[in-house]
Amino acid sequence: MKEYEEYISRMEEIRRLSSPLLDDISDADEYSVLLRENFTRIGQLAALNRQFLDSVLFPLIRSESIDEDLTDDLMDFTDQMICAENMENIDLPMGSIVSDRLLKEANKKGNLNEKLAVYDILIGILYELMNMTTRIHAYPEIADAYRKKGFEVGQVFFDLVDKEKLAAIEDMDIRFMIVINARYSIVFYEGVYSDSKANAEQLEKLDQMYDIANDPEYKELLPGFDWIYHLYRVYQYYFMAIEYNNKYGFDRDQIEHIFERGREMVDLWNESQEHLQEVLQGAEEWNSLVMFIYRAEYLSGRKSREEYIKCMLDLYEKRDIYTFKAGKSYLNFVIPMELISIISSGPISESEKTILYRFYQDILNYAFRIPNAGMISGMLEYLYGIIDSFVEIPSRITFEEMVLKCMAAIHPPTYVHSLMVGQITECICKHVLRLMPEKLIGVRGYSSPDDVMDNSVDILSFTYHSALCHDFGKISIIDTVFVYGRKLWDMEFDLIKTHPTTGYELMKRYASTREYAEVALGHHKWYDNTKGYPPEFDTSKSPSKPIIDIVLCADCLDAATDTIGRSYNKGKGVEEFTEELREGSGTRYAPWLCELFEDPSVQSDIDYLLQEGRKLNYRNTYYLLRDIHDR
Ligand SMILES: [Fe+2]
Ligand SMILES: [Fe+2]
Repeated sequence: MKEYEEYISRMEEIRRLSSPLLDDISDADEYSVLLRENFTRIGQLAALNRQFLDSVLFPLIRSESIDEDLTDDLMDFTDQMICAENMENIDLPMGSIVSDRLLKEANKKGNLNEKLAVYDILIGILYELMNMTTRIHAYPEIADAYRKKGFEVGQVFFDLVDKEKLAAIEDMDIRFMIVINARYSIVFYEGVYSDSKANAEQLEKLDQMYDIANDPEYKELLPGFDWIYHLYRVYQYYFMAIEYNNKYGFDRDQIEHIFERGREMVDLWNESQEHLQEVLQGAEEWNSLVMFIYRAEYLSGRKSREEYIKCMLDLYEKRDIYTFKAGKSYLNFVIPMELISIISSGPISESEKTILYRFYQDILNYAFRIPNAGMISGMLEYLYGIIDSFVEIPSRITFEEMVLKCMAAIHPPTYVHSLMVGQITECICKHVLRLMPEKLIGVRGYSSPDDVMDNSVDILSFTYHSALCHDFGKISIIDTVFVYGRKLWDMEFDLIKTHPTTGYELMKRYASTREYAEVALGHHKWYDNTKGYPPEFDTSKSPSKPIIDIVLCADCLDAATDTIGRSYNKGKGVEEFTEELREGSGTRYAPWLCELFEDPSVQSDIDYLLQEGRKLNYRNTYYLLRDIHDR
């Protein structure tokens, strides 16, 4: 088991190392040195992890059969990969692959208990995978597939809650597990928007779970079961059913029903506070409960919008910004999300703008600390919620700025990459304007070389910002960038391939990024459109085609030459890259770009950006993070 544990602690260390805190850092140079050291260390840790996977784990997964001891080890290992208590998924896809293998093993033996034990883990994995992929808005079918599987596994447990079936199971732990998972499976309704049939089903299942807690026959079937905790969880699920501003669209009667349960929950809390505090290990807070009650009061008409906002802001002051435990971190995200949703549903007053701006600042500060606190996955879910519901306040913060800062906070190398691609693209574009302005005809609607030259400032600004935002879609799948220790699975490549479309969909919604969305959509498409993704987007039809081609080139150039953020890189130079350009000329890369790179001044300008420019970008990242950190 030791080597499994070591693998996991290396994974955790990798996460911490990728976004170091600034507490012991006093200047930008120290930061750059630290980051370089950290990524060198990440490279070493990743190599050790690969070794473990190739020599221990993969052979085991591929083997004909797995003996019992090893099965237990694998179960523990998988459990830790999703680490539900901390809301931290160390490696979800890995957990998924191992659990699939374990399920195969249990099916072979035909043992129900063993099968249920694997389902017990699988259901957690499916829920987390659903959450992870829900962030990929452009492809809701991916999350829906996990939701569907989750319901299937949940149904296995729900069917077994039946009194007779439960009585037929001898093992008491398995009986407990069945009830717990039946209850848990109700979380798969999360994110089913405004579907009245699903809403009714959800409440029906919750009522069923509520009823069994008050049924003496169940008390007999499950002696020693913690019914207080069970009820507390059921109540909590009732409350969680109403999402921000009732996004899921429960009707007035349903909200009243939930509100009634809320009253009971307060009673339960008052009667059994000591016990609940103990089982919840202090992770849950009275404040979260208060927040739920406020929400129900507002939605059932007992509180006005103004009263509600005021109460929530008072509650927000009670949040703990230094705790990252699942229950406690809640107020840091959920109150802002709730209020952003409420405030943005109507015209926004000046004082409300101040509230929103403050939320965004707080969240960036909080997000920056999280990679070090071991709760990246849970946090990403919320952070993405904030980005998804973002409201631009043009005088204070734009969408472009918010996403860039989020990237810097969570994964500085990804932020530096964005800056690099922005600057390289702008530099190439300057040379195109100098040497071949006719190539830019059509961009921004300019129809002749003279027109292009007259508006070069506009073209350059457009080019720079388009490139800066090219990877915005990555914000929804940024967990995948923490996978350093192993090759990516097909499923992860598929997720990565969604980022141009997700970025496009996000950027189109905001004034500050709308114009750049098409470049983001096309930045992984080959010049000749034969390869790359998304396959359905034909860049030759886009007026921004030349810019897309430049960004593609700048993106590959930065990726090939960066040795910090991509510690697996040997770090090519411009000359080697020019060779790559020549090889891909006319297919992957625009022939005129290859021509342009033959010019010595282009080479030396780019070389400067790759050397001095990159250093400067790391320095500036430090100043940005320092600003977020010290706030
Ligand atoms: Fe990309
Ligand atoms: Fe990129």
